[in-house]
Amino acid sequence: MTIAPVQSSSSPLVASGWTDARLILALEEVVEKELNRHLAVAKEWMPHEFVPWSRGRDFDGVLGGEAWSLEQSQVTAVGRVSLVVNLLTEDNLPSYHHEIATMFGREGAWGTWVHRWTAEEGRHGIAIRDYLLATRAVDPVELERARMSHMSEGFESDNAHSMLHSVAYVAFQELATRISHRNTGKYAGDPLCEQLLAKIANDENLHMVFYRNLLKAALEIAPDQAMRAVADVVTDFRMPGHGIPGFERAAAQIALGGVYNLRIHHDDVLQPVLRHLKVMEIGGLGPEGLLAQNELGVFLDGLDDQARKFEERQAALLARRAARRTAG
Ligand SMILES: [Fe+2]
Ligand SMILES: [Fe+2]
Repeated sequence: MTIAPVQSSSSPLVASGWTDARLILALEEVVEKELNRHLAVAKEWMPHEFVPWSRGRDFDGVLGGEAWSLEQSQVTAVGRVSLVVNLLTEDNLPSYHHEIATMFGREGAWGTWVHRWTAEEGRHGIAIRDYLLATRAVDPVELERARMSHMSEGFESDNAHSMLHSVAYVAFQELATRISHRNTGKYAGDPLCEQLLAKIANDENLHMVFYRNLLKAALEIAPDQAMRAVADVVTDFRMPGHGIPGFERAAAQIALGGVYNLRIHHDDVLQPVLRHLKVMEIGGLGPEGLLAQNELGVFLDGLDDQARKFEERQAALLARRAARRTAG
């Protein structure tokens, strides 16, 4: 690595000498390598092939077709909630692009990645919306109003103050998005929907790999600062769609339906990334890095406990519902 840290600073964020600008320069080589790897493995796919256009028909309004009603929807109740949350999350892409272009820049390998990533993400919203409208899976009027409201709020990253926090966040967030799409497909009740969401989940997985490998390099060159970033991001993690109208209620339904909940977050999102990067085993840390690593360990134990309690409540609630159905 040819870029050296600065030698002294009074700011705690650059205590070990790495400013954001220097980290971005230092990681440029890694970004170029990971970008080339990504381009070599990412396979082109066509969103239009996953949309059953023959099932589509005119809506009311300008064309005088049939208005939407609930019984037209062939997907499950949890599928409807989850598909809308996933789509609205994808819809806010202009704001995400703004955040990462501001943080990582638009030049060199970083810029090529930012634009390529944006193009791939753009495909997700297009594909899901076309599927939902052609199959009449959700209320199109409600969907459009929710999109307007959500996008009008924009999205402001919780991590805009730090490049390492931003990289750590997206490494976990891309995996969270992957799991959320994959499980939505699994529980939506339509094999075609599952196929489409598996395709999207595959893109999200490649995004996760890119950022995870970048985070690995960051842990090597600036271990104490990167450890702090990982600890902060894991303990304060929020899904990017947290600003969606009615998000809390939707998130509760999504959790109960097994699409995304504390158990899944701990087991399928946090742990795989942390284990891959051997975050809890990294040695040779300074006092700051050690403190962050300890905080992370304590948090993960607590989260595992919370997840166990959630599972107990979930099992009890589902059993009550099943009993009511049998009685009714
Ligand atoms: Fe996406
Ligand atoms: Fe992604």
